[in-house]
Amino acid sequence: QKMKVTKICCIGAGYVGGPTMAVIAKKNPHIKVTIVDINQARIDAWNDSDVSKLPIYEPGLAEIVKETRGKNLFFSTEIDKAINESEMIFISVNTPTKTYGKGKGMAADLKYVELCARNIADVAKTDKIVVEKSTLPVRTAQAIKSILDNTGSDVKFDILSNPEFLAEGTAIQDLLNPDRVLIGGESEDAIESLASVYGSWVPQEQILRTNVWSSELSKLTANAFLAQRISSINAISELCEKTEADVDEVAKAIGMDTRIGSKFLKSSVGFGGSCFQKDILNLVYIARSYNLHEVADYWEQVIILNDHQKRRFADNLISTLYNTVSGKKIGFLGWAFKKDTNDTRESAAIYVADHLLNEQANIAVYDPKVSNEKIQSDLNYLNTRSEEENRNLVQATNDPYEALKDAHAVAIMTEWDEFKTYDWKKIYNEMKKPAFIFDGRNILDKSEMEKIGFEYSSIGK
Ligand code: NAD
Ligand code: UGA
Repeated sequence: QKMKVTKICCIGAGYVGGPTMAVIAKKNPHIKVTIVDINQARIDAWNDSDVSKLPIYEPGLAEIVKETRGKNLFFSTEIDKAINESEMIFISVNTPTKTYGKGKGMAADLKYVELCARNIADVAKTDKIVVEKSTLPVRTAQAIKSILDNTGSDVKFDILSNPEFLAEGTAIQDLLNPDRVLIGGESEDAIESLASVYGSWVPQEQILRTNVWSSELSKLTANAFLAQRISSINAISELCEKTEADVDEVAKAIGMDTRIGSKFLKSSVGFGGSCFQKDILNLVYIARSYNLHEVADYWEQVIILNDHQKRRFADNLISTLYNTVSGKKIGFLGWAFKKDTNDTRESAAIYVADHLLNEQANIAVYDPKVSNEKIQSDLNYLNTRSEEENRNLVQATNDPYEALKDAHAVAIMTEWDEFKTYDWKKIYNEMKKPAFIFDGRNILDKSEMEKIGFEYSSIGK
């Protein structure tokens, strides 16, 4: 029979677990929601009385945490206790691309998810609904079920797939007004228990019920389709640059066809973020594992094109600067993978910087939400050069004008709104001449910049 949910535990206090549970807690004051994590520093930051110090920056998040924390939203490292007392447990841990062994560089690494399943199996004394919130390869629920069903106890587990579709930077709005909530499962009672949690604010007709495998696969498919649109428009951007067509005009013209739709057609230096690449590689890997090579090749092309887009942005910058950036200062505006987030995972900025550093450029970075420490660790993670070299060649500042002073070129890597409001005349005056702008997000006005005196180049124009 349908379980009445009074306590929820979420394992993983990250970009998904934090905002999702905060909204569930806000909309379900009668449910106690506890978010647990093995990372003590992260939990401490979530518990910081100064909400500007939360580990994740999302517009609107701090307000909700302030409102619910200590009432029915809790952050803790006491994982076993939270599992034990809850009827429903979300698994919201990271599922990065494997960096070792079979499927290295392609498959999703499921070790954290499996650890969660084993943790639940070890400590659960009463029946539980286990919800896959992490993005997982299709058929993972089977593995989780097999771990949970072999504990030797008579505790009963129902497994649901409930993928998350929020985008960073708009997470709270996406959670409050989702296009749909997807729940895949076998047990109708378990499905309805979870549907009632969302039902506190999401209309029932927007809560889609499917079988587990459709739900798991829909998440990978949604991300593949979204990323595919960006690679498609980015492919056209290169053709635009050869033909005097303007990619923004083309995007508008095709987007007004309601069959195509206008969203997600913004050409850029390349998509980043923790998920698009990882999820497509995972999809490609799964297809190959079933010997579906045409299917795999088709989706892999989305990644190939994206890598090409990042690469050609860097190459264009170098060739425009008379084929050498050695010893030249390049000012980066933005390091995050998109605006309104402090997340830098797989940001195009990292790869463009790495390429320019190979050519011995000096890079000064300004990003309103990203620290020098984070930038250094992103570059060190690539293992292209020593930490000391990265430290010497790359510096973040907290003043955009300082980052651009005496620079040969500005590279706009993130579309932060504030970049549009800068005093570009002053920036021009303080830069080396000719002063170049490489607008990787097409956010500045070409004719205005040229009037000031800049040599301006953008994507797809
Ligand atoms: P994240 O890295 O920000 O957070 C994951 C957290 O899980 C970390 O804090 C980590 O310490 C914790 N963790 C790992 N193993 C643990 C364990 N055994 N016990 C307790 N805690 C553990 O990751 P994220 O961005 O929140 O992504 C989580 C999942 O959601 C991924 O599968 C991702 O693909 C998916 N997803 C992410 C987004 C997004 O916008 N970031 C959107 C939709 C789906
Ligand atoms: C994306 C999806 O939009 C979410 O639905 C999904 O839940 C999430 O991945 C996930 O599974 O992690 P996210 O990566 O947070 O969300 O942000 P997006 O808005 O999708 O942007 C991804 C990247 O594509 C960014 O680098 C962005 O700048 C770029 N982008 C986006 C473009 O270059 N052009 C566009 O038109 C849109």
